[in-house]
Amino acid sequence: MAKQTLQAPKGMHDILPADQLYWQFILKKAKTILEDYGFERIDTPIVESTSLFVRSVGESTDIVEKEMYSFKTKGGDELTLRPEGTASIARAYIEHGMHTWPHPVQLWYFGPFFRHENTQSGRFRQFYQVGVETLGDDNAATDAQLVFIAYKILESLGLKNLVVKVNSIGDSFCRPQYIKALKDYYRIRGKKLCAKCKIRLKTNILRVLDCSEESCKEVTKDAPHTVDHLDDECKAHFKNFLEFMDELKLPYLLDPRLVRGLDYYTRTVFEIWPEEKADNEQQSNLQLALCSGGRYDKLINSLGGPKTAAAGWGFGMERTIMILKEAGITPPTARVQPRIFIAQLGELAKRKSLPMFEEFRKAGIFTRSSLGRDSIKSQLRIANRLGIKYTLIVGQKEANDGSVILREMDSGVQETIPLGKIIDVMKQKLK
Ligand code: HAM
Repeated sequence: MAKQTLQAPKGMHDILPADQLYWQFILKKAKTILEDYGFERIDTPIVESTSLFVRSVGESTDIVEKEMYSFKTKGGDELTLRPEGTASIARAYIEHGMHTWPHPVQLWYFGPFFRHENTQSGRFRQFYQVGVETLGDDNAATDAQLVFIAYKILESLGLKNLVVKVNSIGDSFCRPQYIKALKDYYRIRGKKLCAKCKIRLKTNILRVLDCSEESCKEVTKDAPHTVDHLDDECKAHFKNFLEFMDELKLPYLLDPRLVRGLDYYTRTVFEIWPEEKADNEQQSNLQLALCSGGRYDKLINSLGGPKTAAAGWGFGMERTIMILKEAGITPPTARVQPRIFIAQLGELAKRKSLPMFEEFRKAGIFTRSSLGRDSIKSQLRIANRLGIKYTLIVGQKEANDGSVILREMDSGVQETIPLGKIIDVMKQKLK
């Protein structure tokens, strides 16, 4: 049988130690800012019942139609690896009777999400999001504050000139009129749309607006705007939102084509994109949103909960890290590097040197070793590769004498120190 090379599943990735620094950096900044604004952490299961996503994200969305990892359990339950977080939070809100908690309920989460997407730059099949949801508040000030918080988190990482795109897609009262206007607009022009959009005309016409195919962009450029079809209440809500954004001095672009790919949204929708460069500058490899969100005032009620206005966003960790790397931003080193390498020769030496690791750890000095190797040469080579300045060598003789050889790696100078004094000597040297 041909030998099969084992690989992570397509679109899914290992997060190697060198990258962990980026993850810790982003999470730490996000956690601090979110907690400062009163958000509390929530974790929900990675799988939920399939019907939760069908009912909230929407049957004719790309996610539900073709991107969900769904399966039947041995007990016959239909489950899905969560493709997004909002539906789970809505479910948790209802299940735990959060309507009795002080409002608004402000929750944040971090974890993996799964979508069987076509993999390309910035699109993965397992990706991580930091997300927030504010539940039980319909005021437009909340929408503006949510955008502001997302912007502040991304800005705190060192990202500059982020582009905030906003729109309002109305609600179930005014959207039918808008859909009718769209249908009228595409009635003759529909023939020029891509194959997918021809289907979307029937299943989810709003998504025709944000199709990235050039032919569709051309046909769509004069399509009616959602904001021109809002009823008075939605119009007032959007106007307030923009005024609050101005108050917060948050620059934004009004994007009439921003409709988002999930059905639960009502009124405000927004995205935060990486910096747009001038024509003569190298554009980012990531032509996708870093953070996306909006209001979803009907979702909780439609899932059987009380009427609860809500809004939130999620930003992608992988996309954010891609942009940080492109911008040349490196996170600060999270942990002190190991300062001492402990090398040993033989079983007795190994036994004598083992307690030393804990003594050094208690003294706040981090160590490395290679207990599986007995050759002193190869152990010194590893110490060199790790860039460690001091190696302590315990051989047969030292193990018997109760001493340690201290070797300064750069000069090769060695001295013998009594085992009982080694912690104090090293503390002194590493001061
Ligand atoms: P979304 O736009 O589907 O919204 O995803 C939010 C963010 O997750 C995106 O802006 C992007 O950074 C990241 N993301 C999405 N799909 C992928 C992928 N395949 N690979 C890498 N990153 C990805 C939601 O999920 C909503 N639940 C956001 C929300 C919260 N709305 C209200 N509350």
